[in-house]
Amino acid sequence: MMQAVFRKLILRKRPVDDVGRRNFQVVNADLQQPKPGQVVVEVKYLSMDVAMRGWMLAGHSYVPSIRVGDVPRACGVGIVVNSRAKHLEVGDTVIGQLGVQEIVTLPGKDLVRVDVRKITPVTWAGYLGLTSAITGYLGLLEVGKPRKGETVFVSGASGSVGSVVGQVAKLKGARVVGLAGGRANCRRLINEFGFDDCIDYRASDLGKQLRKKCSERIDLYFDNAGGDVLDTTLDWMAPHGRVVLCGSMATRNVTEQKGLMNVRSVLIDRLSVQGFVLFDHECRYAEAVKDLTRWHSSGRLRLWSSEDLREGGLVGFSRTLADLLAGSHDGKMVLQL
Ligand SMILES: NC(=O)c1ccc[n+]([C@@H]2O[C@H](COP(=O)([O-])OP(=O)(O)OC[C@H]3O[C@@H](n4cnc5c(N)ncnc54)[C@H](OP(=O)(O)O)[C@@H]3O)[C@@H](O)[C@H]2O)c1
Repeated sequence: MMQAVFRKLILRKRPVDDVGRRNFQVVNADLQQPKPGQVVVEVKYLSMDVAMRGWMLAGHSYVPSIRVGDVPRACGVGIVVNSRAKHLEVGDTVIGQLGVQEIVTLPGKDLVRVDVRKITPVTWAGYLGLTSAITGYLGLLEVGKPRKGETVFVSGASGSVGSVVGQVAKLKGARVVGLAGGRANCRRLINEFGFDDCIDYRASDLGKQLRKKCSERIDLYFDNAGGDVLDTTLDWMAPHGRVVLCGSMATRNVTEQKGLMNVRSVLIDRLSVQGFVLFDHECRYAEAVKDLTRWHSSGRLRLWSSEDLREGGLVGFSRTLADLLAGSHDGKMVLQL
């Protein structure tokens, strides 16, 4: 018998600087019975993402801001406990935007069933999840559209998004060069992840290295870095090259963004620069899950490490998010509810 009341987290106060317990409150809520097409999902694991803090701020962004009193947005994994959707059954494991709550009632069309026979639910919330592998897959294939023989450059290549972008670009026949921090990460990307080459952003002059390692210029740049990395890379794009803007790791701790400086390269090389937001591509999630499952199960897609799994449930959410924002984590962070 399913519980009639469940617990959820609500935003009590928008974050100003850091995030802490004062920003949230755990409250009880009544379970909504599913209407036709809806399912009830017990939330098991949540992907912890730096973007979560931004989603709670006021102002214009790529998704509606979480209002005070609302459940914070979170992607994750859950089990269907009641279904009035034709394609989902009780017991199915699903991924979607579930929110920081124990139970959620959602349209079945917003959820994708995942296979947990060989891939754990933690990994479906973590490295293979929506904001990791699925972001990389969709950003690359829906926006970047790599072609056989092209040179693809990807920053944040050792990250949960970039490591997948590079491997999928290789599967599509491109030559792939990554940007990562440290010799060990670069070596690993080449030896274990099949990248053709890699540049260490901590050690080298990026402009010089790009000219050496992408001697015929870059056809497609998948940008997880922003800032100076983006400006320098724009200088070495091939004519009519494409740039996918996905993340901004190089400027995440900068309070005053200085903006894109190298606009001249966009003009002289007639570049296409397009922002990518995962949530615009919901209708392709199932296709991404299918391909990623197949590639991972057949050993063609590797994951960077195992997840940094945190316990603590709803009450532990603020501490876990604070740890993530402070950089104290080891691998993709997942919260167990
Ligand atoms: N647009 C969307 O819809 C969407 C969805 C999900 C994620 N994202 C964004 O995508 C980006 C990547 O996410 P992720 O989950 O892959 O992050 P991640 O796993 O934390 O990895 C990011 C990588 O960035 C690298 N990095 C750190 N500082 C850097 C710098 N100053 N210059 C260049 N590289 C630097 C790090 O490389 P080393 O460890 O090798 O130093 C790290 O491995 C983030 O900005 C995230 O917010 C966007």
